[in-house]
Amino acid sequence: MRTSKLLALQLLILVSLFTSVRIACAQQAPAKFTQFTPGAIWPDNNGVHINAHGGGILYQKGKYYWFGEHKIESGAGNRAMVGVHCYSSNDLYNWKDEGIALKVSNDTTSDIAKGCILERPKVIYNVKTKKYVMWFHLELRGKGYSAARAGVATADKVTGPYTFIKSYRPNAGRMPFYPAETLDNERVDCTHPANKSDGFFCRDLPGGQMARDMTVFVDDDQKAYHVFSSEENFTLHLAELTDDYTGHTGKFIRIYINHQTEAPALFKRKGLYYMVGSGCTGWDPNAARWFTAKSIWGPWTFHGNPCKGAGADITYGGQSTHVLPVAGKKNAFIFMADKWTPKNAIDGRYLWLPITFKGDEMEINWSDKWGLNVFDK
Ligand code: GAL
Repeated sequence: MRTSKLLALQLLILVSLFTSVRIACAQQAPAKFTQFTPGAIWPDNNGVHINAHGGGILYQKGKYYWFGEHKIESGAGNRAMVGVHCYSSNDLYNWKDEGIALKVSNDTTSDIAKGCILERPKVIYNVKTKKYVMWFHLELRGKGYSAARAGVATADKVTGPYTFIKSYRPNAGRMPFYPAETLDNERVDCTHPANKSDGFFCRDLPGGQMARDMTVFVDDDQKAYHVFSSEENFTLHLAELTDDYTGHTGKFIRIYINHQTEAPALFKRKGLYYMVGSGCTGWDPNAARWFTAKSIWGPWTFHGNPCKGAGADITYGGQSTHVLPVAGKKNAFIFMADKWTPKNAIDGRYLWLPITFKGDEMEINWSDKWGLNVFDK
């Protein structure tokens, strides 16, 4: 072989080696996360920012499943153009894209027609029916926020596909349940509504109560509850779900009447029920609030803002969506919040922060970076 030919061959080998190394690098799995960085871009297993806003997490058979609103770019992303996105994780730091669990419909007559507003989806598992049940806040396409309905879908597999069942305003014709200690003047009287919120409650009594920001909670006895902003967002309702979790029994209470609580998240610790929520300022952040109750049926006591330090008055720029008990750890609860970016909805960020307790008192503090080992202290 002539020297020039040999050189050319050597060059070719070098170039192809370089290219294959580059391809191998590009195909490498993304870096493994070992910490949370609240407010940062959070890449999934494909290196794409997690798209599960207003979400909640279900722990099932050793794995976490995160369900949330799939958003698209720009302001249009605030409407449901795709559906509910699901991710799975073994360690809470690294998430695998499991695809769209509930798809919006291309049928324009469907309640969940593409372009509707589908917010704050949460999934629970029913041990009796062996079904996964997803609840969400639904607004019908083209009707703004006027429908204020609860929507429900079920699946046989945790990651879906979920089948849409129905949407409606809960508890039509039903008056609240009152714990024994309720005073007469604390009961809503539709002949003399005591405040704005009572007025909305009475107005909606025949057709069912408004249901917007929401969560669902399964208690130790497997009874499930739906908590939602009702009465034009002036009052929270906590309502019992039927045994199969796909409907309301008609038993419910009203919480913190006339005080505009949104974004509820419920958890139980040492037999005490806790709820965290926000005020009502749309996509703009405001101060969080927390409540406790010895019985799920109340009375629920308001305790003010659980957040401390700089940024506490605006929940560090976020709004609550879920409180996650960490599996296998005692006293380990993660406050999950959304930092909304309504002008480019897909860019919304997640603020996950550890909750600390002083006795029964809960506290949330900002942390730039943290790991689950904070709960081992
Ligand atoms: C927020 C609510 C969000 C979304 C938004 C729309 O207050 O928590 O889920 O509904 O308003 O403006």
